[in-house]
Amino acid sequence: MDKINFFPDELIVENQKIILRLDLNVPIKDQKITDDTRIILCLPFIKRLIEKKAKIIIISHLGRPKGVKVPELSLIPIYRYLKNALKTNVFFFKGDLDNETKEKFSHLKAGEVILIENIRYFKEETENNEEFSKRLGELGDFYINDAFSCSHRKQASIHNITNFVKKSYAGPLLKKEITAINLIIKNKKEPVTCILGGSKISTKINVITSLIKKVNNLIIVGAMANNFFVYKNLKVGKSLIEDNTKKIIDNIYKKAGLCNCEILIPEDCVVGIDYDGTGKYKNLDEVNDEEIILDIGDNTIKNIKKKINESNTVLWNGPAGYFENENFSKGTFSIAEIISKNTTKKSLISVIGGGDTLAAINKYNNKLSFSHLSTAGGAFLEFLEGKDLPGISVLK
Ligand code: 3PG
Repeated sequence: MDKINFFPDELIVENQKIILRLDLNVPIKDQKITDDTRIILCLPFIKRLIEKKAKIIIISHLGRPKGVKVPELSLIPIYRYLKNALKTNVFFFKGDLDNETKEKFSHLKAGEVILIENIRYFKEETENNEEFSKRLGELGDFYINDAFSCSHRKQASIHNITNFVKKSYAGPLLKKEITAINLIIKNKKEPVTCILGGSKISTKINVITSLIKKVNNLIIVGAMANNFFVYKNLKVGKSLIEDNTKKIIDNIYKKAGLCNCEILIPEDCVVGIDYDGTGKYKNLDEVNDEEIILDIGDNTIKNIKKKINESNTVLWNGPAGYFENENFSKGTFSIAEIISKNTTKKSLISVIGGGDTLAAINKYNNKLSFSHLSTAGGAFLEFLEGKDLPGISVLK
């Protein structure tokens, strides 16, 4: 395997313009950052570059605005956060990224920082557009990708940009993530259980199909499980579901049968009338037309606990319910608690990943321990699959 170019700490970058791709995609509500884990993790390297007197141009996305300037997805709250956290001049750039941008950035002094507004406000970003990547690349001398969690995206600021800079590197966070995940893949012990939450089954179908071959148990929770209930002709009321998943689920069960992988789905749930309301315990055949399934029930928690207790390796991505409301957080917190307990007491190998999962864990009051906590969701799963991620292959 070709080697990844990791950023050498001894590299002299004084007065050099460094384009730093970060994942500052953090949850924001009413202009307030509700979980700053991803930013906190990025800070030491930004501070290191400031110390080294580089001129730092930070690029990040927030959400999926699809080329539209959606005000709720502005990076302004993150800009304010960085301005507070960094002892240097931090500027915010919300203009167009055109041929004049380079000139506008030429006033940046050594040790100063510019944060560019949500890069996905430009549709060319997700198109991996050649001209746009060139304009981005020309803003700096070096490029550093320290966003492992975005490296599965073939997008301009992750992929094509590397064709238009002198040299591209992987940053320290990216290095830490892949080193830890590689170590776990190498040392993983059976039985292996994977717990998958989240909403969209169609975007995770390749990952699921590939994981089925590698794990002994696959536990489906979160809104994704709703599609399995519909498949089993159960009523899900107003719960989130995806269209046309029957064939996908058929295939999942067929493949699981061939690979001896046991699929577990919830057998009971907690429902609500709305996301902010209270919860009510229900068997799965009792959900009425007005209700939304927002957490797993106690019997399901018991089944998951049993599987975790029997496992030597657990991979977990995606909360079990709408943990943001404490009435629907029991499933997610119980899973976190039992994985953590087995990691400390029974040397369980545990890898937890995904922005939402991280946010859930941070909301939990007690201290939790895992073998590795990844900031990445989709990238983490695709890396586990053994895929060569587009954002990493260009750093080799
Ligand atoms: C994430 O939250 O996993 C990363 O920020 C990537 O976001 P995306 O799935 O919208 O590309």
